[in-house]
Amino acid sequence: MKFFADTAEISEIRDLAATGLLDGVTTNPSLIHKAGRNFLEVVREIADVVEGPISAEVVALDYDGMMREAEVLRKIAKHIAIKVPLTPDGLKACRALTSDGTMVNVTLCFSAAQALLAAKAGATFISPFVGRHDDVAFDGMQLIADIRLIYDHYEFDTQILVASVRHPMHVVEAAKIGADVMTAPPKIIWQLFKHPLTDAGIASFLKDWESTGQKI
Ligand code: E4P
Repeated sequence: MKFFADTAEISEIRDLAATGLLDGVTTNPSLIHKAGRNFLEVVREIADVVEGPISAEVVALDYDGMMREAEVLRKIAKHIAIKVPLTPDGLKACRALTSDGTMVNVTLCFSAAQALLAAKAGATFISPFVGRHDDVAFDGMQLIADIRLIYDHYEFDTQILVASVRHPMHVVEAAKIGADVMTAPPKIIWQLFKHPLTDAGIASFLKDWESTGQKI
């Protein structure tokens, strides 16, 4: 499973990249707003730090506008994935961009039917939002399982990018289903490292080691 960081905060991205476990980054207009910085400048900086796919989202809703914005974004670096919404115009732009060799992340997916359309449009990534799905009392993880089943059935190459991840168990459940990628806020990725027995084990080993009076 690939790990993407869902943030536009460059310092958080640098910290995670230093672990060697970061495969890419996803941004969206809300994350850019939160970072309070210039969109193109942030995307450029992220692209310098992370070699994997960097998702940058268009804000136009019509095909021509999306293609115009995508043109600006994809010039930043070869590993920019253009993020388009799951609409008829978004999927038309997806088809055009992927046919031209550009990665596309189709976002705001909330049903298996939508995921099927995105795969048929040649999407590189489909982003089903599990947390927002759970928020309205639908089973976000069941959506991931349904998409996995459909994509495997037809051997679609589109990668399932689990988005709107809210806690470590979302990551574990998505991995059990066989999702290709998950994107999570850095805080959740750091939480994956944690286990109280690991901390307790380190403390007791160190205490016993000190008692030996040895040094390495
Ligand atoms: C990532 O591509 C999505 O935009 C993001 O995961 C949405 O997360 P949220 O539902 O926590 O805003």
